[in-house]
Amino acid sequence: MKTAIIFHSVCGNDYLLARTFFEAFIKRGQKDTELYRVSDDDWKDQLDLPEATRKHLSDMFSLPVATPEVLLDKDLILMGAPTYFGNVSAEMKAFMDATSCHWFEGKLAGKKLVAFTSYGNSESGGSLCLQSIHTYGQHMGMISVSIPTTTVPGKISSPYGVLYNSQGKYGELLDKDTIKLIEKFSDYLLKIPASR
Ligand SMILES: Cc1cc2nc3c(=O)[nH]c(=O)nc-3n(C[C@H](O)[C@H](O)[C@H](O)COP(=O)(O)O)c2cc1C
Repeated sequence: MKTAIIFHSVCGNDYLLARTFFEAFIKRGQKDTELYRVSDDDWKDQLDLPEATRKHLSDMFSLPVATPEVLLDKDLILMGAPTYFGNVSAEMKAFMDATSCHWFEGKLAGKKLVAFTSYGNSESGGSLCLQSIHTYGQHMGMISVSIPTTTVPGKISSPYGVLYNSQGKYGELLDKDTIKLIEKFSDYLLKIPASR
């Protein structure tokens, strides 16, 4: 399955979510999986960060920048961004808006869409951010994939996508539950038949 994982991240949390999905797909033999960041021209070098954080932020910035064209040949698109004021970050929104070149001719129609976000505070809009990603997908005619309640037995997660509470920290490690959810959800995603 041809897959693109597109993310925006400033402090690294959404990068970790994106990278965990990427590694899960590669581990499952999905060589046609590509990882992209969206453009973020005003990201500043943050000098006060711990070494470990600086290292993975530098890895993050070595990734290719997504363009609207990279979506065209994909069956599955995973999009993730930090929750900013109950929505996606401006950089992710700018990327979405740039794909309007595909909108009128329905070039993304029928592609599967998965949403993920990290947020700083419970009950502060992470789900709204996921819904913004799905609202975008609906305008594009994409098929939103939700997370079934059975994905990790005994744990009910958000149906709208992966929601990770970073508690305002810079991303250094994801918790075990989030990694397990991404692994199990990746298994599920790879069992859904190609729609195009
Ligand atoms: C401008 C701004 C707005 C934010 N708005 C919210 C919000 O509405 N709800 C929330 O839970 N966290 C909010 N946060 C916290 C981020 O979502 C959180 O720190 C996130 O994990 C950052 O993701 P990143 O590490 O990928 O950059 C906001 C942070 C910033 C800088």
